[in-house]
Amino acid sequence: MNKMTISELLVDYKKFLHHDITIQGWVRAFRSNRFVALNDGSTINNLQIVVDFENFDENIIKNINTASSLKIEGEVVESQGSGQTIEIIAKKICILGDNFTEELQSTILQPKKHSLEKLREQAHLRFRTNLFGAVFRVRHAISFAIHSFFNDRQFFYINTPLITGADAEGAGEMFGVSNFDFNNIPRDENGEVDYSQDFFGRKTNLTVSGQLEGETAAMGLGRIYTFGPTFRAENSNTTRHLAEFWMIEPEVAFNNLEDNIDLAEDFLKYVIQYVLDHCKDDLQFLDKRFAEDQKQKPEKERAKEGLIEKLENVVAKRFKRVSYTEAIEILLNSKENKKRKFVYPIEGWGADLQSEHERYLVEKHFESPVVLFDYPKDIKAFYMRMNEDNKTVAAMDVLFPGIGEIIGGSQREERIDVLRQKMQEMHVDEKELWWYMDTRKFGSVPHAGFGLGLERLVLFITGMTNIRDVIPFPRYPKNAEF
Ligand code: 4AD
Ligand code: MG
Repeated sequence: MNKMTISELLVDYKKFLHHDITIQGWVRAFRSNRFVALNDGSTINNLQIVVDFENFDENIIKNINTASSLKIEGEVVESQGSGQTIEIIAKKICILGDNFTEELQSTILQPKKHSLEKLREQAHLRFRTNLFGAVFRVRHAISFAIHSFFNDRQFFYINTPLITGADAEGAGEMFGVSNFDFNNIPRDENGEVDYSQDFFGRKTNLTVSGQLEGETAAMGLGRIYTFGPTFRAENSNTTRHLAEFWMIEPEVAFNNLEDNIDLAEDFLKYVIQYVLDHCKDDLQFLDKRFAEDQKQKPEKERAKEGLIEKLENVVAKRFKRVSYTEAIEILLNSKENKKRKFVYPIEGWGADLQSEHERYLVEKHFESPVVLFDYPKDIKAFYMRMNEDNKTVAAMDVLFPGIGEIIGGSQREERIDVLRQKMQEMHVDEKELWWYMDTRKFGSVPHAGFGLGLERLVLFITGMTNIRDVIPFPRYPKNAEF
């Protein structure tokens, strides 16, 4: 008898009718001393096990409790009851692990509604709930679809370093990496920390982005993408920021800004369509949860579309493409700005857009995903390509409803003299990035790329509202439990 998951059984149940099978999982519920709802994580659907208690030892029946783990051998039959197509008539029951019943009372495994905050405190047990089972299966499907999208288009998957000396975004939001004894840090004659004595013989940090190394790979392999963890020591306690998150960064030789926007749009639509096609049960569950959540809100704040409907619409419609300059005009003329309803009112051209402005454009003004491009050079990173107006750079951000920025990218400055000047203006040390400069010295070509924050896409697709609930073990200020 082969080991099988509940998902495998349900997909092909006709093949197994009236056969004996073995199945293992955790008890979600035990009703009338007779019906076990068993779940093994492979699907949101529970398998019903029918236990004729007359046939089993009393001790076994006593230990079939919520959360205990079982191995069942039994016959697959068509279900008599409603709610499931098949059930298993148990012939053998083995309790793999029973419960510390008293301790169970204070855990989220207790079958009742728990707040998301409480679930977060017991993140190690969240995988056992319907909600987080669905979220993490969808997260998997998204990751898989991302690899599949790029592989189909002949992109090569490149692993860039997590420990690096570079600050790719030039924003200084880095976690240092060192093996110094913090109680005895070596100093030079000026009293400065002497990094030459540190593990790597220099100052190092956790990467904020693999882009710069990714660019060097694209300058030989043509089309590449990275998919790895990135770290930001920004003190942002919001529902959209993590200190450790996963980023996907494609980089393409010979692409310009428009190619880059096309790629980003195709990419997001492909991944969302993949989830629509492959995660039907989980999405239906999340859709229902989303709808119930909306009912709790005042009518004005309710979403206009259901979750699945929203995903289908994003795939169907072309994203609106709007220049930063047009966006500022729209924001300046908005009622919100005139009535000072924004926390950060827009004063004029050059302002950095906050998430409230991005969401106004997407949710109120255009009611569609929006790609903003050609941002003022002063509010963007040093590597973005200068436009002919000498005021803006070839940057692009993709903004999504409920999320704000989901993708940030640009065409890169491939002209070494322009890049040099920009680095000087922005105090980025050219000597530190000598290897990056080399890509502009030996056969430099136009190229472009972007970064997608995986968790922001998972948020959007699952309809969850806090980014801490779409990564198994979230890292944020004052929290690194587990
Ligand atoms: O806009 P960002 O900072 O761009 C870069 O890092 C570029 N090097 C990307 C590139 O061109 N290759 O970050 C890219 C995306 C954002 O759009 C957002 O989705 C996500 O990463 N992101 C975060 N997600 C969660 N928590 C944070 N603290 C994030 N910061 C950025
Ligand atoms: Mg950005």
